[in-house]
Amino acid sequence: MLKGKKILLGVTGSIAAYKSALLIRLLVTAGAEVKVIMTTAAKDFISPLTLGTLSKNKVLSDIYNESEWANHVSLGRWADIMLVAPLSCNTLSKMAHGACDNLLLSVYLSATCPVMLAPAMDEDMWKHPSTKENLIAVQRHGNIVLPVESGELASGLIGPGRMAEPAIIIEQLEFFFAKNNTLKGKTILITAGPTHEPLDPVRFIGNSSSGKMGMALAKDAIERGAKVLLVVGPTSEVIPTGVEVTHIKTAEQMYEVCMQLFPISDMAIMCAAVADYMPVKSENEKIKKSSDTIILELKKTKDILKALGEIKKDNQLLVGFALETNNEKENALKKLKEKNADFIVLNSLKDKGAGFGSSKNKITIFDKQGNEFPFGLKPKKEIAADILNSIINNHA
Ligand code: C5P
Repeated sequence: MLKGKKILLGVTGSIAAYKSALLIRLLVTAGAEVKVIMTTAAKDFISPLTLGTLSKNKVLSDIYNESEWANHVSLGRWADIMLVAPLSCNTLSKMAHGACDNLLLSVYLSATCPVMLAPAMDEDMWKHPSTKENLIAVQRHGNIVLPVESGELASGLIGPGRMAEPAIIIEQLEFFFAKNNTLKGKTILITAGPTHEPLDPVRFIGNSSSGKMGMALAKDAIERGAKVLLVVGPTSEVIPTGVEVTHIKTAEQMYEVCMQLFPISDMAIMCAAVADYMPVKSENEKIKKSSDTIILELKKTKDILKALGEIKKDNQLLVGFALETNNEKENALKKLKEKNADFIVLNSLKDKGAGFGSSKNKITIFDKQGNEFPFGLKPKKEIAADILNSIINNHA
């Protein structure tokens, strides 16, 4: 999988830099071509001679010396992926803010290839609010951030902050290249988050959907090379870089946008928790507190998934979600048929830690050929990959 891949490895000043030697060895053994850029601080932890010998390429560190200039633009264009491992707290902060005071950062800022980051730092630095903000920023800028591992740290503390092991980084690279471009040329419409149905200017009927699952799907589809059209209700989740997003509030607005976008899409994944009912009347002024009880009259919203199922062409795929609390399989299969969907993703709320607001989920996918694909309780990021893999392997 990594044979012939061009990997630009950035090494920064962290004790985990000693693992870069093994990482390069594994990459070269797997057939990858590796070029290494080190920051000055990294050289205090491991020698350029070691990394240069293992990578079979001269290690780069300076933007220029007396006789030559390292062309940062061509380096970022040469690579299939830029991997920064270990990524120190300092370099993370500089990346998040667009600083450019060494060769590694100038290559990063001019790189046209994807960038994968493997942070490594002590527990307290890892937990600092500024580190958390910087991690969100670099993810928002489209970089892939690998999780840190928990365990013994250089300080003697035991906790999170260790760089992912080289074997895990290799696995992540293989995963990245395997899924890369599997949806190239496809346009995918994704709905995410809740809808808010107004009762008056300040109140609404809503639900506690976070939008996490839809965002994970959008990010995964982008990483596979798809064009993603995201229609999202009110959410505080970060919108993945590269998606074309339309923000809506109500089910009616989501319906209008989806009806416009579906005809230009190859596939639609309806992940949003759309309100089933909306107030018959939304008051222009705030409803005053007066009588002890009030009666709200509600009417059904338009079923977007069903409407798309009615206009679906043979070359389009439609994926719906089903959140059931009883007769789960029976209800999911009913939905698959009634809404003319190609796949229904059944969510289980019975498992602890799964569902709305949680970062994990447990699903079973049903397709219209009668196949059933169950999955275990997993992070939503992995669930998103399972959903897209099932669709790609079975239809797309
Ligand atoms: O019928 P039910 O609401 O359980 O179906 C859930 C599926 O239908 C989800 O994919 C959801 O996004 C979609 N849906 C919709 N429009 C609605 C209600 C649900 O697209 N008004």
